[in-house]
Amino acid sequence: MAAPNPYVKRYLMTAGPTPLPPEVELAMAQPMLYHRAPAFIEVYARVLERLRGVFRTENDVLVFASSGSGAMESAVANLVRPGERCVVASCGKFGERWAELCQAFGGELVHYDAGWGNKVDPAELDATLARAGGARVVFTTLSETSTGVVNDVRALADVAHSHGALICVDAVSGLGAVPCEQDEWGLDVVVSGSQKALMAPPGLGLTSVNERALAHAAEQPGGRYYFDWTRTVKGQRKDPPDSPFTPAVSLILGLDAALALIEEEGLERVLERHRLLGRATRAAVKALGLELFGPDDDGANVVTAMRVPEGIEGARIPKLMRDKYGVTIAGGQGKLKGKIARIAHCGYFGAFDIVTTIAALEMTLSELGYELELGSGVAAAQRVFLEAGVAAGRVA
Ligand SMILES: Cc1ncc(COP(=O)(O)O)c(C=O)c1O
Repeated sequence: MAAPNPYVKRYLMTAGPTPLPPEVELAMAQPMLYHRAPAFIEVYARVLERLRGVFRTENDVLVFASSGSGAMESAVANLVRPGERCVVASCGKFGERWAELCQAFGGELVHYDAGWGNKVDPAELDATLARAGGARVVFTTLSETSTGVVNDVRALADVAHSHGALICVDAVSGLGAVPCEQDEWGLDVVVSGSQKALMAPPGLGLTSVNERALAHAAEQPGGRYYFDWTRTVKGQRKDPPDSPFTPAVSLILGLDAALALIEEEGLERVLERHRLLGRATRAAVKALGLELFGPDDDGANVVTAMRVPEGIEGARIPKLMRDKYGVTIAGGQGKLKGKIARIAHCGYFGAFDIVTTIAALEMTLSELGYELELGSGVAAAQRVFLEAGVAAGRVA
């Protein structure tokens, strides 16, 4: 294969990190601020308030200087004691991370694995909880980025609560791309990260915790320090709010700008834009005669996963697309390595990011020997956008 073209224009189409709006880049280019000075405290207080808006909650959203996995670790460190039974309901690589974390913290794990590409089934979770008996926390995933599957966490929350358990949801790639009504759906803990639909760089772990979960954590102190929720809540509830440790100042400035953009567009419209991007991508994939991986779900707004066609070496698709055409998509992870390709549409994306990506995918597949009609996937995506009125500016 030819050497990568260093002059090609680059398009980042992965599910995190995602592209940054210029407003976010500019906000982070400001001179460094002292985190106890009014100029930063004002931004910090605003970010904490704005986060409530995207989490759809009145809870405290705890901000850690970590990736999304740090926010996940904070949940397990605060909710699971050695020997305590906990249930993980997973359907892919990131759900399995909950299981690994529970084991790392000495929990007695009961794992319901729905299988990669499937949704977590509320009835199966119900049966698992009945079998497990006495589990105090259920860990699951809103958007399983490794497969593109989006779970019905509202139904899963009802099941967890009917067994007296708390539910803790990984919304690292889902928050801001698919509906996630923390308070209305009764989600006790929701964790996320800055680098996906929230349009900021990697490095902020976000954990929204309700009173019940905070009380559960406070009942069993120890076994954590930086990630201790009680300590962070105490700081963040001060007036003005204070961070117990040096916060990631520049990232918080960037997140503030990103959240302002989400507020301006309106969360409803942001979610609708993501729905359309997903719909157009799936239409394009199907028009090219490719098979979607997982269910053909109109709510799969985050990532579109497709099976690699017979006879093509899977890893060559993202490599050729990146090196020759400048479009970075993701391949499969873990057991799906080489078997699927994933186009992300969570974050700062609009219709023409999808059109460009599908055009590059068509050229790539054609070059790799897959028979297709150039433009057929692009046209299918265009039709979705046209029908939705993208030309009238409804979608960014
Ligand atoms: C659903 C999901 N959970 C957890 C993570 C882990 O986040 P991070 O890589 O920021 O630690 C990711 C990252 O891709 C994710 O998509």
